[in-house]
Amino acid sequence: MVSETLSSKQAIELENKYGAHNYHPLPVVLSKGEGVFVWDVEGKKYYDFLSAYSAVNQGHCHPKIIKALKDQASTLTLTSRAFYNDVLGAYEKYVTEYFGFDKVLPMNTGAEAVETAIKLCRKYAYEVNGIAENEAEIIVCENNFHGRTTTIISFSNDEDARRNFGPYTKGFIKIAYNNLDALEETLKSSKNIAGFLVEPIQGEAGVYVPSEGYLSKAKALCEKYGVLFIADEVQTGIARTGELLAVKHENVKPDILILGKALSGGVYPVSAVFSNNKIMDVIKPGQHGSTFGGNPLACAVAIAALEVVKDEELAKNSEELGQLFRSELGKFIETNDLIKLVRGKGLLNAIVINDSEDSSTAWDICIKLRDNGLLAKPTHGNIIRFAPPLVMNKEQLLDCVEIIKKTISEF
Ligand SMILES: Cc1ncc(COP(=O)(O)O)c(C=O)c1O
Repeated sequence: MVSETLSSKQAIELENKYGAHNYHPLPVVLSKGEGVFVWDVEGKKYYDFLSAYSAVNQGHCHPKIIKALKDQASTLTLTSRAFYNDVLGAYEKYVTEYFGFDKVLPMNTGAEAVETAIKLCRKYAYEVNGIAENEAEIIVCENNFHGRTTTIISFSNDEDARRNFGPYTKGFIKIAYNNLDALEETLKSSKNIAGFLVEPIQGEAGVYVPSEGYLSKAKALCEKYGVLFIADEVQTGIARTGELLAVKHENVKPDILILGKALSGGVYPVSAVFSNNKIMDVIKPGQHGSTFGGNPLACAVAIAALEVVKDEELAKNSEELGQLFRSELGKFIETNDLIKLVRGKGLLNAIVINDSEDSSTAWDICIKLRDNGLLAKPTHGNIIRFAPPLVMNKEQLLDCVEIIKKTISEF
C-alpha cells in the first residue's frame, strides 16, 4: 500500500502536485475511521464533526454496512440496466416503503439526483400540466446549494461556483429563501412555473434554518398553484436533523424527494429521486439513466445503511443530542464574544463567528479544533458547520462540547 509509508506532509504534496486544486482541505490526512472517530496517518485520533458533509451519518465503516458491501462485492457488482439484477427490485420496494413513495429512480451522486428531479419536473410540466414546450420554469432559492453540474451552477449565486462556466442553463427563477410572499408573487406571475426546488435547511449556506411553518406553507402554495414541491434532502435527510426527513418536522410530503449521501452511510455513491406514479411514469425507456445507477452493490449497501438508521434509532439520537449541543453551546456563547450564535436542527448545526465575512477566523478556529482533536470545516461566510456522525453518544458529545469551548476560549 502506498499510504503506509507516507507522512501527512508527503500525502498533501502529492495531492497538490498531481490533483486538480478544486478543494481547499483542512491540513489533516486521514487513513482510518471507526464510528465517530478518524485517525490521521501519524496515528492521532480525532472526533469527526463533519461526517463527510452528512454522508457518514451511520458512523465510519459501520460493520453491518461493510458486511453488506463485502458480501455483495464478491457476488455481483454491476450489470448495467441493460439486464435486470436480483437486488434492485428488492431495494426499490424497501426504499419506497421506507420513505412512503410509489416509485424511486436510482442514481449515484447528489448532483445527479438533483438533475434527475429537474428533468422529471420539466417533463411532467409538459406532458401532464400542459406547459408549452421549452417554457417551463423552476423556482429556486438564493444561496442554494444543489451540486456542481452546469445546469445546477446556472442557478447558484456563489460566484466561485459560477464564474467562467457559462453559458448557463435557462429556466430558473431565483427568490429569497424563507420568504413566502416572494414565493407566492412568483407563482402568481407566470403560468409556466413547473416546480419549487428547496433545501429544508440550507446546509452549505451556513445551516440556515427557515422560520417554523415555512415549508408547510410553501407546500400549500405549490398545491394552490399546481406546482411540484421538490425537496433536496441530500444533506438534511436520513435522520440528520432529528427526523428521518427534515420535511417531517412540518409534516410535509414533497411531490419529489431527492436523497444521496447517507443513503449509503458514506460507503458508496448512492442517490435517489422519489415521487408518486403519476409523476414518475412520465419517464420512459431511453429517456434517462446511468450505467451505475441501481447497481446491486449500491442497492445492498443502501438497504443495510437504512436498516442501521432504524435499528439504532438515529433520528431520535440526533434530536436528543442536537438539543443538548445547542443548549450547552448557547450557555457558553452568553459568556463569549467571539461567537454570535449557534443554530441548527438535530445534529446539523453551525456557529456564526463574530467577525467580518472575509476574515480567516473560522478557518483559524478549525485549525485549533484540529489540534485539540476535533475536525470541522468553515462553510460560507464566517460560519463553522458541526455535523458529527449520528451514532455519537452523550458522553462523546459532551466531550466534544468541552473541546469546542476550550478551543474558542483560548482563541
Ligand atoms: C443539498 C445538497 N444537494 C446536492 C448536493 C450535491 O451532492 P453531491 O456532492 O453528492 O453531488 C449537496 C452536497 O453537499 C447538498 O448539500
